[in-house]
Amino acid sequence: NFREHIDSLVKEASCTRLCSTKKILTVNGQFPGPTIEVQYGETVYVNVYNQGKQNITIHWHGLQQRRYPWSDGPEYITQCPIRPGRRFRQKLLFTTEEGTLWWHAHSDWSRATVYGAIIIHPKVGSRYHFPKPDADVPIILGEWWKEDITKVVQRLHDTGGDPNISDAFTINGQPGDLYPCSKQGTFKLTVERGKTYLLRLINAAMNVILFFAIKKHNLTVVGVDATYTKPLSSEYVTIGPGQTVDALLSANQKPDRYYMAARAYSTGTNPVFDNTTTTAIVQYRGKYTSSSFPSLPSLPFYNDTNAAFSFFGSLKSLADKYHPVKVPLDIGNRIMTTVSVNTFPCQHNNKCAGPNGTRFGASMNNISFVSPSTALLQAYYQHTNGIYGDDFPDMPPFLFNFTDKFLPVGFETPKRGTEVIVLDYNTTVEIVLQGTELLGGIDHPIHLHGYNFYIVGFGFGNFDIYKDPLKYNLKDPPLRNTAVVPFDGWITVRFKADNPGVWFLHCHIERHMTWGMKTVFIVKDGEQPDERLLPPPPDMPSC
Ligand code: C2O
Ligand code: CU
Repeated sequence: NFREHIDSLVKEASCTRLCSTKKILTVNGQFPGPTIEVQYGETVYVNVYNQGKQNITIHWHGLQQRRYPWSDGPEYITQCPIRPGRRFRQKLLFTTEEGTLWWHAHSDWSRATVYGAIIIHPKVGSRYHFPKPDADVPIILGEWWKEDITKVVQRLHDTGGDPNISDAFTINGQPGDLYPCSKQGTFKLTVERGKTYLLRLINAAMNVILFFAIKKHNLTVVGVDATYTKPLSSEYVTIGPGQTVDALLSANQKPDRYYMAARAYSTGTNPVFDNTTTTAIVQYRGKYTSSSFPSLPSLPFYNDTNAAFSFFGSLKSLADKYHPVKVPLDIGNRIMTTVSVNTFPCQHNNKCAGPNGTRFGASMNNISFVSPSTALLQAYYQHTNGIYGDDFPDMPPFLFNFTDKFLPVGFETPKRGTEVIVLDYNTTVEIVLQGTELLGGIDHPIHLHGYNFYIVGFGFGNFDIYKDPLKYNLKDPPLRNTAVVPFDGWITVRFKADNPGVWFLHCHIERHMTWGMKTVFIVKDGEQPDERLLPPPPDMPSC
């Protein structure tokens, strides 16, 4: 079952938001970009034509692309960027998940405007574990800068400081009623009383975790990151960049107009966020006199870590006979890694905009990842030496009180390098991700390409190797592709390395990724023919 050729023209279009007009990069002139809607089991080919002025790549976030990393998309990891005027035909394999995923650019910060939803319907003949909804509604949360995004990135590179914070949050590309010049465009969802809508929530924001809620309507979460969960009724959801949440909205209130709203969740001493609220309207069909101004839902306070993590902690995988849990129990490879924001000395002058004139960096196990100038996947496939090393440490260089404000000197400035983690086929892996107090600490949504992992535990403070594993949930842990490491805390994930290839692991907060909070898993081929990488397509872009 496959569909030949969706054409994706990456090109500039002009777009007016917040009282000003600018050119943005789009797909087919649309913002947000087109939705890809498929049935489980399909294969889809997308022809990506770059008609813009800058290099671009497109990634299908959460698609495992089994044995076929060639179409995965992150620049300099699985492919060289598509240059202006060139094209690349990407093959999408919908063979592993059902629910909501999304696609986005994976080069520089172009994903700020180049993104769209992916809806994967259940395979033919199978049913949802909840009543069939009357309609699917993508709700994509994003961020908008009045300035050209290439300028925002350029300044980030030039000054070494924090990026300018965005000027608005958006729902389906629109800031909503609370921002200037925005009322006209506010996204409106018309509902019919008695019907149920499957909201396909996506956090496409660059740098913020968000809270989302709808006035007077509880949401029933039925899936996250295109995996099913036990139904969870909640007044709000927490959603990190990269994550998706499938939630049922029952139109069961008095016919009226109600706001849905999203706002930042942010912690740390130097949070880069904006405490404004984006809104959209749920309006009931029919005749009624509506409240002149719909009231806002109450969202947790911006630094309410308990609210953020009580939502994450309530998610359980479905774990029924059709959706068995396969958490690895015998662990073949244990990795513990810190995730930190650090500083580097300012190189050429003393005017960097980071703390005390430094330049921001970010690291895992004190290594700040440097992207190669050629694609790592090709280097691996063609046995090219000297592009990367396999020395990513499986433990922090030394153990200390990670959540202490004072640090061992050696931890202040990380090393730079292109160090990857090499795994044998079918190795069972456990990763403990430990946040640190460096520069105040902040939450990190860590995303792994090519896999879903089970989140078996998380907590605050230092990970305790003796006590914490005793509390792991091995029965019905949620399965995700992006997990939020709590501010000053840790998270443990497990997966089985049964998808050969070169797979990116990175923080989905864009500035942290830019600063180096990333590494790569290389999963070797297995022995059987169907355990090996498929050959590359003939039109792989070259560097
Ligand atoms: Cu949403 Cu590496 O990507
Ligand atoms: Cu981060």
